[in-house]
Amino acid sequence: MQRIESERLILRNFTEQDTDDLYRYAVDPEVGPRAGWKPHETREESLSIVRMFIADDNVWALERKSDHRMIGTLGLHHDKWRNLPDVRMIGYVLAQDCWGQGYMSEAVKRAMRYGFEEMNLRLMSISHYTFNDRSRRVIEKCGFVYEGLLRQTFLRYDGAVFDEAAYSITKNEWLKHQFIV
Ligand SMILES: CC(C)(COP(=O)(O)OP(=O)(O)OC[C@H]1O[C@@H](n2cnc3c(N)ncnc32)[C@H](O)[C@@H]1OP(=O)(O)O)[C@@H](O)C(=O)NCCC(=O)NCCS
Repeated sequence: MQRIESERLILRNFTEQDTDDLYRYAVDPEVGPRAGWKPHETREESLSIVRMFIADDNVWALERKSDHRMIGTLGLHHDKWRNLPDVRMIGYVLAQDCWGQGYMSEAVKRAMRYGFEEMNLRLMSISHYTFNDRSRRVIEKCGFVYEGLLRQTFLRYDGAVFDEAAYSITKNEWLKHQFIV
């Protein structure tokens, strides 16, 4: 992933030195399960995920400029519902002690600008499980258009089944949204 910056964050590639920062928030039972994954139990588990991020090269580490801590991730993944080459689906996670300070909205807006201006994407998509009101607010604030509710789409590791609210934004919609925020 190309290194880019927003006001308070650096969006950059992972290195194995990020393992401790990832482990610090990935053990938190409030974080992973909201995004569908099981909290990490060992540092080795976090290291293997860092190695996967490095190999796949589709996830940015979010480094906070003020203290250089790696506080979360933002990925531009292939959209599981669309086979177009110029579409990406956003996924994100943030350490709980950093919630509610606008970091993810800032990171998503920057990633959208990168996606539309640098990668020349036609559309970006995103979704959240219906219980995840914080994520819904991030998505709304960033101008995504609600597509609909996909009922019973996701079986979590613990057997829970969730509905998924799906959103997307086209390049034209994003250009227009720039004028109203
Ligand atoms: C979802 C997540 C990334 C949000 O990050 P964040 O940096 O806290 O988001 P922001 O601060 O940019 O915005 C959060 C918004 O939710 C609002 N919010 C906070 N608590 C809320 C609640 N209980 N219900 C509804 N909205 C809430 C905030 O007020 C803010 O909106 P506002 O600016 O209009 O006031 C973060 O909570 C997280 O990592 N959660 C766990 C993993 C996860 O859910 N990943 C996403 C999977 S789809």
